[in-house]
Amino acid sequence: MSQKFHAPKGVAEYVPPESGRFLAVKNALSQAAELAGYSYVELPIFEDTNLYVRGVGESTDVVSKEMYTFDDRGGRSLSLRPEGTAGLVRAVVEHNLDRAGLPVKLWYSGPFFRAERPQQGRYRQFNQVGVEALGSEDPALDAEVIAIAAEGFARLGLTNFRLLLNSLGDSQTRVEYRGLLTAFLSTLDLDDATQQRAQLNPLRVLDDKRPEMQQKLADAPLMRDVLSEAASDHHEAVCEYLRELAVDFEDAPRLVRGLDYYTRTTFEFVHDGLGAQSAIGGGGRYDGLMADLGGQELSGIGYGLGVDRTLLACAAEGLDVGAERKCQVFLVPLGQVAQTRLVVEAAALRRREVSVDLAFDDRALKGAMRAADRTGAKLAVILGDDDLAAGTAVVKDLSTGDQQTVALDALTDSIQEML
Ligand code: HAM
Repeated sequence: MSQKFHAPKGVAEYVPPESGRFLAVKNALSQAAELAGYSYVELPIFEDTNLYVRGVGESTDVVSKEMYTFDDRGGRSLSLRPEGTAGLVRAVVEHNLDRAGLPVKLWYSGPFFRAERPQQGRYRQFNQVGVEALGSEDPALDAEVIAIAAEGFARLGLTNFRLLLNSLGDSQTRVEYRGLLTAFLSTLDLDDATQQRAQLNPLRVLDDKRPEMQQKLADAPLMRDVLSEAASDHHEAVCEYLRELAVDFEDAPRLVRGLDYYTRTTFEFVHDGLGAQSAIGGGGRYDGLMADLGGQELSGIGYGLGVDRTLLACAAEGLDVGAERKCQVFLVPLGQVAQTRLVVEAAALRRREVSVDLAFDDRALKGAMRAADRTGAKLAVILGDDDLAAGTAVVKDLSTGDQQTVALDALTDSIQEML
């Protein structure tokens, strides 16, 4: 008996035509990083579980509740990557990429995994394009990273998004702030789980999205009020560069992020057409992560942009991304001899960078021409027995309906001229 299967619950899966749009979004976001001198890295999809416990933080929801963790056959605990920064920093340290010249600028793209409750825009397998720059504390680099994320969105034509910007302070600020926040939290009536969280990392409590908690936290002290002079100067400089770059931002002193490694600059891009899952990207600086993962004490900054949510944002704005035609030329053989000839012509045209598809299974002319229309091709080439005997082929312009007869031996040249 046969059995029908479904994709696992909550995974983002794309089939044509949506998959073409997905690819266009991913490419636009990646190109912005390439244009800024970031080099591509291909990193593993699973890593040592402890890398995330150490790097992302055991008090985070991402690590404590949402990781897909399993033992491999050698009894090692591995986890599907819930995010990209920890793995990338691990790779920089492992391959000594920080010994060549600083900053090290890298980008990555691919699937990530979080066992979240699935809903529109929130998936268990989702996709990010990210960049990380390590080894420079220059606030101009913070601004560059933010600006290329904004540029990626702009390349797609998106306009209805906002950039929220905050500073989470440096190590000096955080010691002081932690004390203040712990004292404040001790005055609140908190449930056991939240109290536990407050002990592990009081900053995490600020990330609690429940409305009753947000109400209780309304008077919580702000990191902003205790920023060290150095952290404050850094933040101001980042803001100034962003103004120079004409990248609009909103000051968001209450913005906290879901991962523990952030220090100083933190940001999130939110799209106003997406409802609850509005964050289309986010990132920030991480001063201690590389040293925590056994490397030099170098600061880094980066972002992860959500490809799936960016695609939803494009749909919300009615943007027709990735709608280019599937192929430029469609070949219609009528009969076996014609098919053999056109299979060869197709290969020759593809070698000349012309995108070509052809009709299979001995399609009748009418059905084949409908298939040609569906591909969005500009030209159709029709080759029947009479044409073969005459050494010619018929080339039809599918937008105007004009037809011409061309010499079969010069088909590839003629088509290139007509495109
Ligand atoms: P993040 O904010 O956790 O940051 O994720 C970045 C983006 O990934 C989010 O803004 C969102 O668009 C997308 N995303 C996250 N979870 C889901 C989900 N379940 N379904 C769909 N999309 C999702 C990071 O991951 C950091 N590593 C970013 C970073 C890089 N910070 C510094 N460098």
